[in-house]
Amino acid sequence: MKTKYFKIIVNEYSSINELPDSDVRLIYAAREASKNAYSPYSEFNVGAAILLQNGEIISGSNQENSAYPNGLCAERVSLFYANSKFPDNKVLAIAVSAKNFKGIISEPISPCGSCRQALMETEIRFKQKIRIILDSKKKILVFYGTDNLLPFAFKPDTLG
Ligand code: THU
Repeated sequence: MKTKYFKIIVNEYSSINELPDSDVRLIYAAREASKNAYSPYSEFNVGAAILLQNGEIISGSNQENSAYPNGLCAERVSLFYANSKFPDNKVLAIAVSAKNFKGIISEPISPCGSCRQALMETEIRFKQKIRIILDSKKKILVFYGTDNLLPFAFKPDTLG
């Protein structure tokens, strides 16, 4: 028996002012996108903004449904739109921001497992690691590469 350890790297910033301009722009785009959430059931408004290689910023928000499982997270709404509208443009970064009834959440939002899997697929598709920026009131977390959020992932090469 062997015990293996996976290393995860995350950079934590205590203020948005510590981040480079391109991250700040993306965070503001994610915050803005959260205003367009359709979230009457959870009342949890999430926005995601994606930076593409051509400089374009694509944003989206969570879209819920009275048949609950039909809803979709902000990350996948924006990622799938970006990939379908600009199939030849690498995804460089994504920022995610969320608001509840008190305003921007106090701890960074953590993307769900399905969104992590979709981010992983996008990285493999474009052979480009994605910078993942998770916003909150207290701190901002930055991961470079989905491996840091989804270690031991199911990947296309498993299919043979
Ligand atoms: N949600 C997102 O859009 N992104 C996340 O990273 C976590 C959760 C949405 C799904 C649902 O509409 C609401 O937030 C509450 O779970």
